[in-house]
Parts: sequence; structure tokens; C-alpha cells
Amino acid sequence: MTPPVSTSWRISLAHHTVLVVDDNEAVRTAFDVLLSLHGVTVLTAANPSEALAKLAREPVDLVIQDMNFRREATSGEEGIALFREIRARHPDVPVILLTAWTHLETAVELVKAGAADYIAKPWEDARLLTTVRNLLELRRAQTESRVMQRQRSEARAALAQDFDLCGIVYDSDVMHTLVSMATHVAHADVPVLITGPNGAGKEVIANIIHANSSVRDKPFLKVNLGALPNELMEAELFGTEAGAFTGARARTGRFEAADGGTLFLDELGNLSATGQAKLLRVLQTGEFERLGSSVTRRTRVRVIAATNANLRQAIREGRFREDLFYRLNVIELEVPALADRKDDILPLARAFLQQGFSLAPDAERALVQYNWPGNVRELQNAIKRACLLSTTPTIGAAALNLPASAPSQTADEPTLDRASIEEALGRARGVVAHAARDLGLSRQALYRRMEKLGLKLEPGRAPGG
Ligand SMILES: Nc1ncnc2c1ncn2[C@@H]1O[C@H](COP(=O)(O)OP(=O)(O)OP(=O)(O)O)[C@@H](O)[C@H]1O
Ligand SMILES: [Mg+2]
Repeated sequence: MTPPVSTSWRISLAHHTVLVVDDNEAVRTAFDVLLSLHGVTVLTAANPSEALAKLAREPVDLVIQDMNFRREATSGEEGIALFREIRARHPDVPVILLTAWTHLETAVELVKAGAADYIAKPWEDARLLTTVRNLLELRRAQTESRVMQRQRSEARAALAQDFDLCGIVYDSDVMHTLVSMATHVAHADVPVLITGPNGAGKEVIANIIHANSSVRDKPFLKVNLGALPNELMEAELFGTEAGAFTGARARTGRFEAADGGTLFLDELGNLSATGQAKLLRVLQTGEFERLGSSVTRRTRVRVIAATNANLRQAIREGRFREDLFYRLNVIELEVPALADRKDDILPLARAFLQQGFSLAPDAERALVQYNWPGNVRELQNAIKRACLLSTTPTIGAAALNLPASAPSQTADEPTLDRASIEEALGRARGVVAHAARDLGLSRQALYRRMEKLGLKLEPGRAPGG
């Protein structure tokens, strides 16, 4: 029952206050002596009302309470009532129950209901001290993590209040840092380079930068440099003069149209050598010519570029201009792969659910375990598909139908060994769909693993069972 706590680092018991509640004075004295020897401040109470009064008055780190408070009482009812009262009034204070061997079931029930632990009378001092120490350590860790949690959510609320976050969803610390950096560089009139894998959310970050910039009311144009052949790309960026090439009409380019605002250049890694040269020039001087024109025009545009290519490598290989790179990445924001920020998976998945749908626990496990090579876009598609295909409002792992071919490489992926698969199949009485759900796998994925392990199902029987 005692929570596992590292033994390499032990806190001192001193500076802690423990309240002992027992009608037997000898018991109270015994605890007082034992705990005081270890520096604990001991408060005592002989009955529930005295105990509750002391708890209300003084800060207590731990309660050790008896289950019966009158000589003739043995049912434990009074102890149960006191425990429930303490839980209700002081939900964070751990409670150790002192119980007779004959009443262990009650204690076990109460531990399920939130008591920290129980100790059978007569107790062993060493075991009691270990239990007390473990609980105080756990409580301190919990308090610290609650404080940190509160600081985190305050920081997030402040960010969302002060800036337009364009509906971005995240919970991870890395994304919080990234989003706050984006909001802070938004006002500076410098180019920003956003890097990161496919579908990770580079465009969302670009949206945030524009939405919080001083030019948020000016045009925000996006050009996907990966989607256009070279000739068209230059025409798209810089415009054309009528007759620049066969059939060409006069056309405004994006640099002109975005004048005074922001231009988002997506998939920058695909820009041709001439395109790179022209881009460098417009960034340096604000000058450019339409294709087929000798008239130099001027524009003032804030450029945000994005790429999933490794530009440093492209520079080494001579495919990307180093001078252009340094022009563009005055500030570089790197959006991590979804697999590297697993805290974001469930908040994103829930945000993508259609109204009226929810995720079953096995589906949540499967989502967190999967490694999302297509990142947020893949997650969005998987949830959309599941909402369309699911026959029930609760989406199970099977409805997600995640491929098993790309298992997570991270350490927290449970290794599905033969034993756990056999166990799950046993529990599911050989029904593969049930076992798969239980394991957070798709049915196909489970079949594949069974095949790999050479597990065969006999009709009506789990393998090996
Ligand atoms: N943190 C997020 N919160 C909410 N939606 C997100 C988030 N990240 C990404 N998305 C959504 O996921 C999809 C992919 O994001 P986005 O287009 O920004 O990725 P990208 O990195 O630009 O991808 P690509 O490399 O393919 O251009 C979009 O529909 C976007 O709205
Ligand atoms: Mg994009």
C-alpha cells in the first residue's frame, strides 16, 4: 500500500506535524515518544471531535487514526466516520489507519476510498516510521507538483489573454515556450524561419506571428513554394508584365500584394536558384521587377518562411544559398514532432473530435503510444475518420485503426511481449477484437503481432492457455 519512493534520497521527519487520534492514552504516548525522537511535532486527540478541532486549528501534515474510540466499540464505524470527515474537510492530508488484525477488510476498503495506508496493531516501529516518511515525501512531491501545475496554467492563461493564439491547442512545455516566443517576436519587424516536420503546425505558428504583429490588419498572404513549377513560382512571387511570355497578362505578384503586411513562404526548401537570388534581393533592398518588366518596384513585407527540409544540409550540398538562409532565419522557431511532445496528443485529439464524440480509454492509450509520423495533420485525419466511421459516440481504439507498422520508439511504449498478449487474449476468452481493445491496438495490429510471435488461436481458447 505504501507508495514507492526512492530510497536514495530521504527527507528528514523534522519540521513535520503529525496528529495521532486514539482513545487509548498509552497508544498516544507511544506514538508521541517514537515520533518526537525523530523530530516530528506530535499533536494528539482522544476522540473524533477533538481531532477535527485540532485539524481546523493547526497545519497538520499527516494523521494517524484509530478505528474505535470507546472501549466497548469494535465495529470501526466511528473510525470510518472520522476518516470520511477528514477526507471531506482536508482532502490533501494523508491518513494512516490503525486497525486490529481482525478488521483489515475495513482498512483495505478505506485505502481504496483514499486513505493513505493502514497499520495493524500492534505495530512495528520501523515499519511505521518508513510509512510515515514515505507519505510525507509523497505529500511534499504532490504539493510541489501542484504548485508547478498552477504556475503553468497561470502562465498559459496569461498568454491566451494577452495574445491572439489563433486557436492553437497544446499542453506540453516545449509548445508553451515556442508559442510564447512566437508572440514575442511577432512585434519585431524581422524575418522568421519556422522549421519542423510535415504537419507539425508550422503554419499555425505563422498565423500567430501575423495575428500579433503590428501589421495584423494588413494583408497576410501565403505562397506554397513546393506546389509550383519554377517559372510559375517567380511569376507568383514577383508578378508579370503583359507579354512577359506567351499569353502572359499583367499580374500583381505576392510581394506587391502583401505590401505593408506579411508574406508566408511555405516549403522554402524548394525555391530554385534564381528564385533564391531574387528573394535575397527583395529581402535586402525591398526591390524587385515583375517578369518581363524593367521597372523596379518597391515593397515592404515581413517574411515568414517555413520548411521541413534541413536547410543547413542543403547549404552544405550547395542547394541553398547561405546568405539567404541567414537573412531569413534571424529568428528560428522549431516546431517539434508530435512524438516528441506527447502531452499534446490527447488535448489535440479531443479538440479535433466532432461534437458528441468522446474517446474510450483504450483509444487514448493507442493515440499516446502511436508515433505520428504525419504529426498533427495525421492525428487530425485519424480523428476525423474515426468520427465518420464510428458507430457509437465513444470511439474505441479499433475505430482509430492506427497502423501498427510505425511503433513508437520512445521508452514509454509498453513492450507487448508474448505473456501480455496471451494474458489479454485469456481475459478476452480468445476474442481478438476485445483483446486488441484491451491492449490499445487495432485488431489487425494484434493479428500481426500474434503472427510474429507464432501465437495461434484454437477455436474457443486463448493461445497457450
Ligand atoms: N497545435 C495545434 N493546435 C491546433 N491545430 C493544429 C495544431 N498544430 C497543427 N494543427 C492543425 O494541423 C494541421 C497541420 O498543421 P500545419 O498546416 O500548420 O502544419 P505544417 O507544419 O505547416 O505542415 P506542412 O509541413 O505539411 O506544411 C492544420 O490543419 C492545423 O490547423
Ligand atoms: Mg504548412
